[in-house]
Amino acid sequence: MNNQEFNFKYTNITDPSELDDISNRLISKAKSAAKNAYAPYSEFNVGAAVLLENGEIITGSNQENAAFPSGLCAERIALFYANSIYPDVPVKSMVVAALQNGEYLKFPVAPCGSCRQVILETQTRFKNKIKLIMYGEEKISIVEDAAFLLPFPFEGF
Ligand code: THU
Repeated sequence: MNNQEFNFKYTNITDPSELDDISNRLISKAKSAAKNAYAPYSEFNVGAAVLLENGEIITGSNQENAAFPSGLCAERIALFYANSIYPDVPVKSMVVAALQNGEYLKFPVAPCGSCRQVILETQTRFKNKIKLIMYGEEKISIVEDAAFLLPFPFEGF
């Protein structure tokens, strides 16, 4: 018998001025991106902004379809697009924000399980930790390592 334990730390903040300028820029990009969502079925508009090692910021928003499984989350759209135009550039950080009924969510938006798998593989692929900033109007949660988001990932552990 060999008991194991997962442990991770994350940070909550209420005032975005505690974050650096680039994180605030990403927040504003993710919030704007949420406005571009095509989400007539869920009416849940998500925006993601990805900061690359070369300083580029790539955004994405969720795109739905009447054939439900055909849609895709904002996070994967942003990451796949970033990797498709900059296949060799590591991802440094990502902000996720959501808009519902014309208002940004008060509490942090956390990526779904499939997006976590993709975020983690991107981190592993580039051997570069991805900081995830989950935005909410009243609380922002920050995780410094995508591995914390997904214990027992498909790629192995
Ligand atoms: N969605 C995202 O874009 N990101 C998430 O992290 C969670 C969910 C989208 C998928 C769907 O279009 C809508 O939000 C409702 O689930």
